[in-house]
Amino acid sequence: MAWLRRKLKVVMMLMMVNLFIFIVSRSGGTGKGEDSKVVVPSKRFWSKLTPSQAFWNLQQQKLDFQRNPVLAYTNSNDTGAGVAIGLIPDWLNDTGMTSDPCQPDDHVPSHVGGYSSLPAHLKDFLLYMRCRSYPLVVDQPDICQTTPGGEPPFLLLAVKSLAPHFDRRQAIRQSWGRAGVLANKTVVTVFLLGNATAVDHHPDLSEMLRYENDRHRDILQWNYRDTFFNLTAKEVLFLNWTATRCPGAQFIFKGDDDVFVNTLGILVFLEGLSGSKAKDLFVGDVITNAGPQRNKKVKYFIPESLFVGMYPAYAGGGGYLFSGDLARRLLVASRYVALYPIDDVYIGMCLQKLGLAPEKHKGFRTFGIEEKYRRNPCAYKSLLLVHSRTPQEMIQIWAWLNDPKLTCQ
Ligand SMILES: *[C@@H]1O[C@H](CO)[C@@H](O)[C@H](O)[C@H]1NC(C)=O
Ligand SMILES: *[C@@H]1O[C@H](CO)[C@@H](O)[C@H](O)[C@H]1NC(C)=O
Ligand SMILES: *[C@@H]1O[C@H](CO)[C@@H](O)[C@H](O)[C@H]1NC(C)=O
Ligand SMILES: *[C@@H]1O[C@H](CO)[C@@H](O)[C@H](O)[C@H]1NC(C)=O
Ligand SMILES: *[C@@H]1O[C@H](CO)[C@@H](O)[C@H](O)[C@H]1NC(C)=O
Ligand SMILES: *[C@@H]1O[C@H](CO)[C@@H](O)[C@H](O)[C@H]1NC(C)=O
Repeated sequence: MAWLRRKLKVVMMLMMVNLFIFIVSRSGGTGKGEDSKVVVPSKRFWSKLTPSQAFWNLQQQKLDFQRNPVLAYTNSNDTGAGVAIGLIPDWLNDTGMTSDPCQPDDHVPSHVGGYSSLPAHLKDFLLYMRCRSYPLVVDQPDICQTTPGGEPPFLLLAVKSLAPHFDRRQAIRQSWGRAGVLANKTVVTVFLLGNATAVDHHPDLSEMLRYENDRHRDILQWNYRDTFFNLTAKEVLFLNWTATRCPGAQFIFKGDDDVFVNTLGILVFLEGLSGSKAKDLFVGDVITNAGPQRNKKVKYFIPESLFVGMYPAYAGGGGYLFSGDLARRLLVASRYVALYPIDDVYIGMCLQKLGLAPEKHKGFRTFGIEEKYRRNPCAYKSLLLVHSRTPQEMIQIWAWLNDPKLTCQ
């Protein structure tokens, strides 16, 4: 008898749930019923955009306004221009934007809070923050056409380097960055350089660079001060170069000259991707929930007067891998994002503008691997990138990976 009572109980309960669902779905109906009301807000339900106190955020507000297609349209002659113009608050109408962006911005000292006490490299960044184009002084215009098969490369390796790092570049050429055909895929390597200038106390290396480039034909150099806070300019200049000189590259790896890259592993990974995954690919060592560093002594220090807010998810600049298709979209997105002094965070911001986020791949070890695995050849077999490695280590690890006698479980 007990089981019958229990069964009855369950049936009753099911009926109650059904009735409940029925009531809820009726009252939440599409507005055709008698009881649907138009809710008129009693107070203003939007808030006015107010100028940010932080300089970068303010520049971004202005850029969002300038690049807003709706406003551009209503400001045009054919739709009653007068109406829209009167509505634009003065602080958004930046007349400074019309002067030469590559001349030091004289608004900066008076518009950035505490400017005079900022470190020199931050002042330099702020003065030239609007400049996105520096002259290309060493180019490889045909490097993506003169490949072994005459086809655009499957993988373009772009290495951020600094003029004095001759040994690192040479080690990369002799190991993971060897251009040509690898596992039946075309690989092209370029090194991205600015100028190591006398202002930064660099010796004049231009003769040696010329020799290096005559021999290897893989240097791209733009004429600007190659400093940490100018790496974002390097990023944007490279995206522009790729769109112009190497638009057919299927995938791009961009990274530092002190990382070891398992190029074979990367090719295997890329071959296994499906079409849609390959199109939007952006993988690396992803950092989430990070914000600006407020400690003045740290290289990444960003004061409140420059930026407020959190960083979007971004892939550590030691090295990341993305599709050629996405490279084109990132170049477009970059025009909508004010330059930020930290290059990898900047690319995270551009991805966010595109509605994308970088994906974490555990093979990217920009924070290194455990000491006990450092000299274990098999540890590198399953990884795609390890930071940081000396030129000698690069040669050694590459030899291990290419040894036919190497057997790993
Ligand atoms: C606006 O349109 C009118 C008529 O089409 C034209 O005569 C005038 O030059 C335009 N003004 C501007 C500022 O483009
Ligand atoms: C922006 O300012 C300039 C000069 O002050 C003025 O001529 C122009 O009409 C303003 N533009 C808008 C859209 O308000
Ligand atoms: C190498 O790649 C080409 C073109 O992608 C293809 O036609 C050929 O079959 C491949 N060869 C091998 C050995 O996989
Ligand atoms: C780079 O800087 C050095 C030293 O300041 C200078 O001699 C050289 O002309 C510069 N090179 C380029 C390409 O501008
Ligand atoms: C970036 O390069 C430009 C052009 O050489 C230079 O004027 C500026 O000071 C540099 N910025 C930084 C942060 O080094
Ligand atoms: C690259 O930059 C140059 C100089 O700013 C510009 O003229 C050119 O249109 C850019 N190319 C692309 C593909 O955006």
